[in-house]
Amino acid sequence: MNKIAIIGCGNMGLIYANSFLRYKIVTKENLLLVEKNTDRQQSLSAMNIGKVVTTDDKAIADCNIVILAVKPQDFKELSQSLKNVINPTCVVLSIMAGTEMSFIQSSLNHQFIVRAMPNLPVEISMGMTAFVHR
Ligand SMILES: NC(=O)c1ccc[n+]([C@@H]2O[C@H](COP(=O)([O-])OP(=O)(O)OC[C@H]3O[C@@H](n4cnc5c(N)ncnc54)[C@H](OP(=O)(O)O)[C@@H]3O)[C@@H](O)[C@H]2O)c1
Repeated sequence: MNKIAIIGCGNMGLIYANSFLRYKIVTKENLLLVEKNTDRQQSLSAMNIGKVVTTDDKAIADCNIVILAVKPQDFKELSQSLKNVINPTCVVLSIMAGTEMSFIQSSLNHQFIVRAMPNLPVEISMGMTAFVHR
């Protein structure tokens, strides 16, 4: 059973959360919505689609999939706390534009990275995603 953490639940993170639930890839009990913006945290809580937490939450360690959906410029700061909580065996999926896999690997001290680039039509389940992994 998947346990998924989505780090950064803005436009793209929320699209992923709703799609995962719609296609039964995860249950809302096993979906962590990791968000630092307090207004956004409140609106996510009101949606009742997953557990809303912050980046230092220990429950992230239980997730087998961790999705990086913050803006690229926010990743460096995020990585400082995230590297201490992610499970060494989880798959980290990054959708951050222009952020290289080697940089993500070294920042998180983590081996299993998938880098994907979706486009906005994912919002209506009509998107295309290119991805690479090591
Ligand atoms: N939009 C697209 O069409 C598209 C397509 C392909 C890829 N992408 C990529 O997807 C990523 C997200 O884009 P977006 O448009 O969804 O951005 P967004 O709406 O700004 O969402 C990012 C969210 O992450 C939050 N955040 C920042 N630092 C955080 C942290 N340390 N921990 C938890 N949450 C944090 C932000 O809070 P604050 O607002 O307070 O900073 C914001 O709520 C980007 O890297 C972008 O390159 C976007």
